[in-house]
Amino acid sequence: MSKIETNLPAAKWRLLRGVTVWLTGLPSSGKSTIARELERYFVRQSLPVELLDGDVVRTHLSKGLGFSREDRDTNIKRIGFVSALLTKHGVLTLVSAVSPYREAREANRRLIGSFVEVFVKTPVEICEKRDVKGLYKKARAGEIPHFTGVSDPYEEPERPDILCETEKESVEASAAKIIGKLEALGYLKAVQP
Ligand code: ADX
Repeated sequence: MSKIETNLPAAKWRLLRGVTVWLTGLPSSGKSTIARELERYFVRQSLPVELLDGDVVRTHLSKGLGFSREDRDTNIKRIGFVSALLTKHGVLTLVSAVSPYREAREANRRLIGSFVEVFVKTPVEICEKRDVKGLYKKARAGEIPHFTGVSDPYEEPERPDILCETEKESVEASAAKIIGKLEALGYLKAVQP
């Protein structure tokens, strides 16, 4: 199946206020890839942007936490806390975290306010085929317990602000969709050259 290809907009943007773009989805769904594409794009535009990636956060801010529901909720609360501060100070904050529990995501929506939820919806078979870090294989072999999508739940967003279907659309197309939504919601404004 060929993917929908879209170039990133050539416009020059102004960021009118801070916002958190929260990408949720299964491991290897493509969250971090889309988030990094957006980060690069906004850095090139000299906008204040910060990326909080679950994998990275777990090496310092959330070091030592595991993958029980309690630990995941703690991790997501910490990321939400930092995102709220950044957002308040006018930063375009990108979050890429599995964040499998709806209630934890909704709590962050309430805390942060300017919150755009992106559901990176990739079927588990595709994520497993990609298996970027080889973790699905280990989870299937019983080496990783409570692995999201295999032996641990993922609660899909019921009404995400944006849906990215990465098996059908390119990374640029997903990123462009998010940029378009940020413009429609009044966070970004195209600047006249
Ligand atoms: S979350 O559930 O607390 O939001 P987070 O996004 O920070 O998860 O971290 C997920 C990453 O940790 C995955 O991309 C994967 O590399 C790794 N990981 C290790 N064990 C697990 C597990 N049991 N379930 C999900 N991800 C895991």
